[in-house]
Amino acid sequence: MSTPTTDILVIGGGVAGLTLALEAANHLSVTLVRPLQDDKGASIWAQGGIAAVLSPDDSLEAHVQDTLVAGDGLCDELAVRFTVNHGPAAIQWLIDNGVPFTPDTAADARYPYHLTREGGHNARRIIHADDATGRAVVDTLMRKVALHPNICQRSDLTILGLLQDNEGRCRGAYGVDEQHQWQTLPALNTVLATGGASGLYRHTTTPSPNNGEGMMLAAELGAQLMNLEFQQFHPTSLYDPDGPAFLISEAVRGEGGYLLNEAGERFMLALDPRAELAPRDVVARAIDFQIQQGHQGHVWLDIRHLGECAIHHHFPTIHAHCLSRGIDITQQPIPVVPAAHYSCGGVATDERGATRVSGLYAIGEVACTGLHGANRMASNSLLECLVYARSCAGALCKQIAHEGSETAFSLTQRPIRPTPADQQAVFAELRNRLRGIMSQHVSIVRSNAGLTIAQQQLIKLLARLESLEGSQNQLEGIQLHQMLRLAQLTVTAAMRRHESRGLHFSTDWPAHQPHATASRLSLADLTPGT
Ligand code: SIN
Repeated sequence: MSTPTTDILVIGGGVAGLTLALEAANHLSVTLVRPLQDDKGASIWAQGGIAAVLSPDDSLEAHVQDTLVAGDGLCDELAVRFTVNHGPAAIQWLIDNGVPFTPDTAADARYPYHLTREGGHNARRIIHADDATGRAVVDTLMRKVALHPNICQRSDLTILGLLQDNEGRCRGAYGVDEQHQWQTLPALNTVLATGGASGLYRHTTTPSPNNGEGMMLAAELGAQLMNLEFQQFHPTSLYDPDGPAFLISEAVRGEGGYLLNEAGERFMLALDPRAELAPRDVVARAIDFQIQQGHQGHVWLDIRHLGECAIHHHFPTIHAHCLSRGIDITQQPIPVVPAAHYSCGGVATDERGATRVSGLYAIGEVACTGLHGANRMASNSLLECLVYARSCAGALCKQIAHEGSETAFSLTQRPIRPTPADQQAVFAELRNRLRGIMSQHVSIVRSNAGLTIAQQQLIKLLARLESLEGSQNQLEGIQLHQMLRLAQLTVTAAMRRHESRGLHFSTDWPAHQPHATASRLSLADLTPGT
């Protein structure tokens, strides 16, 4: 089949995808596939901000060193330096595009915009738009995308797979529309910006998290998945077992919030000289320990001492949201628990976002550039989205001039049928069980025994799914199959790491190995029966 093609197909509409689309569209044709649901993904829920060296009192080297320390020896230093060095220009690009960052109104301000602090940072370097930075960035970039004549947006599609030609090059994607009609999207180059895999867990910091879809699409084409075992749990999500997920930004601790246990003690003081502003892996583990020791199922985050005026000024969104759920944070401490937040691992890429499959790129949370190592430092994620989206767009604009404009591929179309209600219920049950297994055994603290149980239970779930008639021709069945295989790969990566490092803490392997090594897996590591 030979079909007219777009220069760049971008799958995913968060900060990474929107930035890439805008940066490439001045030179190339772009098709941008965004999710059907507006609340999908992590970008719009990012509260705290974007880390970059903006203050004259800060330095690039300090940001590099803080990132390396937080990453617990596993960061790729070249990736860290690349990201940090390109940070200030990326922020200026957002300012030029009109993102309404919060100004610093202090008479002695050293930079026009307010900079806050978060865990791991030894300087004020987080630029933000109140406490709803992701929303402000996405809304601004969406307005620009909507007006751009070279960007064709599709929000009616669910992508099911990637197209590959006989030479193994990625040639676009295929999926179904809302009527379950098959659609092919041929492209010279394809960029995954589909977010992370926190949806493999039961409790997350975003209401509708991604399930690692892009990681599996890439792996199915032969890309490598790196560092999957490093799933970050944000220390402070609102504790409300019956309500929707809601993040309480790390900036709350950055501006002076205290963590208190059931006895009302600031337990972080005894554990780490950085106290509440230690890196996330340290704080999440400490909270997890307090919860295991106590009876109430959460700890407290207290900012009453900042005063009503400062709370309203810095945290209007968090204040209003908590109030809507019966908690006045100016008068009461906030009940908080850790929740799955960010995948430090993902599709292995280089500085241009290139994977090892030609024509296939990955940017943002779906990718693993080596920046985060074993633990991402707060607010380095949106920075990474921006820096790698801009670098990927630049590389594609340069190289595409040398490529043809037609693409050839062959594809056997599978009929995709609507899922009957009773089958929907079975898929939902299997999905819940998968999330339960990951949350119980592949969470903040792991053990050999727990990982083995997880692996065995996942194999049983996969067998059950594969035995369901027609599931390979139903959207939910295909998606669940991808989730289960990614969960298996994650457990495999965790089982093969014989140490504790950053976010991967094992009771059987409590110490570091002398040399930090990134893990790399491909689908071939999932032999049948494992
Ligand atoms: C937060 O505001 O705490 C989340 C920001 C991040 O994950 O970097």
